[in-house]
Amino acid sequence: MEKNLLVLLKEKRVFEPPKKLVQEANVTKWMKKKKIKNYEDLLKKAKDSEWFWKEAAKEIVSWKKPYKKVLEWKNHYAKWFVGAKYNIVFDALEKHKNKKKIAYIWEGEPEGEIKKISYKELNVQVNKLANALKKLGIKKGDRIGIYLPMIPELPVAMLACAKLGAVHSVVFSGFSANAFEERINDEQANLVITCDSFYRKGKTIPLKKQTDEALLEAPSVKNCIVIKRTGEEVPWNKKMDLWWHEITEKESSNCKTEILDANDPLFILYTSGTTGKPKGIIHAHGGYAVGTGITLKWVFDLKEKDIWWCAADVGWITGHSYIVYAPLILGATSVMYEGAPNFPEPDRWWEIVDRHKVSVLYTSPTAIRMFMHFGDEWLEKHSLKSLRLLGSVGEPINPEAWIWYHEKIGKGKCPIMDTWWQTETGSHCITPLPITPLKPGSATKPFPGIQADVYDKKGKPITNAGGELVLLNPWPGMLQGIYKNPEKYQKTYWEMYPEVYLAGDVARKDKDGYFWVQGRDSDVLKVAGHRIGNSEIESALVSHACVAEAAVIGKPDEIKGEKIAAYVILRKGTEVSDELKKELAKHVGKEIGKLARPSEIWFVDDLPKTRSGKIMRRIIKAKVLGQDTGNISTLSNPEAVEELLDAK
Ligand code: PRX
Repeated sequence: MEKNLLVLLKEKRVFEPPKKLVQEANVTKWMKKKKIKNYEDLLKKAKDSEWFWKEAAKEIVSWKKPYKKVLEWKNHYAKWFVGAKYNIVFDALEKHKNKKKIAYIWEGEPEGEIKKISYKELNVQVNKLANALKKLGIKKGDRIGIYLPMIPELPVAMLACAKLGAVHSVVFSGFSANAFEERINDEQANLVITCDSFYRKGKTIPLKKQTDEALLEAPSVKNCIVIKRTGEEVPWNKKMDLWWHEITEKESSNCKTEILDANDPLFILYTSGTTGKPKGIIHAHGGYAVGTGITLKWVFDLKEKDIWWCAADVGWITGHSYIVYAPLILGATSVMYEGAPNFPEPDRWWEIVDRHKVSVLYTSPTAIRMFMHFGDEWLEKHSLKSLRLLGSVGEPINPEAWIWYHEKIGKGKCPIMDTWWQTETGSHCITPLPITPLKPGSATKPFPGIQADVYDKKGKPITNAGGELVLLNPWPGMLQGIYKNPEKYQKTYWEMYPEVYLAGDVARKDKDGYFWVQGRDSDVLKVAGHRIGNSEIESALVSHACVAEAAVIGKPDEIKGEKIAAYVILRKGTEVSDELKKELAKHVGKEIGKLARPSEIWFVDDLPKTRSGKIMRRIIKAKVLGQDTGNISTLSNPEAVEELLDAK
């Protein structure tokens, strides 16, 4: 991080947007209509954020009944488009229901498996499932846990829930049974949807088996709907399991979309925070539709003929917003790919880009660095000439990766939209538009209607120095709270500065007003772009019988951005061994998922603590990375700092 910071401080290059792109951009057309002269003028005008979002809503949604008030802001909770009647399904699906246009071009991991699903077909599938769900008693407000890989039934399941006003909660298929169980219990899910198994790196992952493990301890769940993906045999519980194809087969292909309040919840998505327990972030139908729709339309400039590929997983917010809801609202054609990027070979993605003529590609810095590492020879067979715009999300992109992406993938002609946002923000917040001059490594400026700043500890705005990234006013994609935990909502986002939203990231704003996001401020790791709480991994470690205490830190990693390093105190009498390290890593995999397994485990006799007993991760990190630890005399055990270097 420190090294990256220095590079970013020195980065001076500016890439002007290509003229033709600017002229033809969706945002330019809109600006002309509104007589707005240029980018700076747009940002200035959009400082009247209620005006801006009102206009944005006109571009994106059709309310069933108009709203009475654009925004109601009370006690840090925003209600947008108050009084409107709406359901996101009207815009994401119903308005396209007779279109033959392809909504999803799907590729399974096994080569040659391709399905194209039109908007019309998608609508039928959603209606059939929604009718089946209704028969199972699902109604407005119920919670549905969805544990699925990247198969077309995943968006179908989400939309069917939304249609009925039920709240979906997708759990990434790479999470473990225990992680799924924790989430469905927190939300008291009524029903879950999963599949038999799925393909990953040439192997199959037994998702139904994992679901069964989770359901052993989840009494609120009454039924489990299972999709046949691979056809592998699965354990079956006659009392609650149902095959998706059987229950949907005879259902009608019409189903009424529930008319909801624009602020009714659409989904809960769990994300890591500073405590061991993930937070259930809530998003609502109306504001979220406006926020995701307008950002995709303007940032990635989607037009009727574009082939859009957001290469994230629907299990994360990027997939919710930019694989499911926003592209459907815009009526776009999206590519969706089930498998690993390097299966069977490291050029699978480039094959997909050429095969389907992808024109806009959105991915993460980790993926970009991984492709850099595979070597440029994997690009030789592929023209990539269909690409016109590129995107990056999830973690800071280092200028070296930015330039590689720009030159090797974009052939020097595709601007890179480095989009900063979060599960909580629902849609892009700090991001270039195709008309923005770019600086490699900077997410540039706030999207119109959003105001951001960097504050010092006292809440004073600072320029050209690292501080806390804050958002100054509410925006429509903003979270509606943390499920059943209003205290945590206030504490996490509003305690430090009561007037502004605290993102939890460290950033710098340069003299041109460009933002350079450096990473999370502490307590949360970003491993391969995935957000994992240090304390989640620590709790998992401590739940192992041999572990007394644990501290987890992130160490810089060339590809993944950060790698997980755990410092562990074993219980008395436990023998130190490499086998035990492997066992502990496996244990974390079982508790959370493979993505949370530490890359390094170190055994220590003690860990530096404050007098009140809090383990000082910051000091551990500084010491093991050879940096200045600062004043350690106030610790209850300063000698533990030096002893870290004797870790085994
Ligand atoms: O630290 C920031 C980083 O990802 C965090 C949000 O993680 P999550 O909720 O999982 O959502 C990821 C996808 C939107 C942020 O607090 N982050 C996201 N985008 C960027 C980024 N850091 C730097 N540059 C970005 N473009």
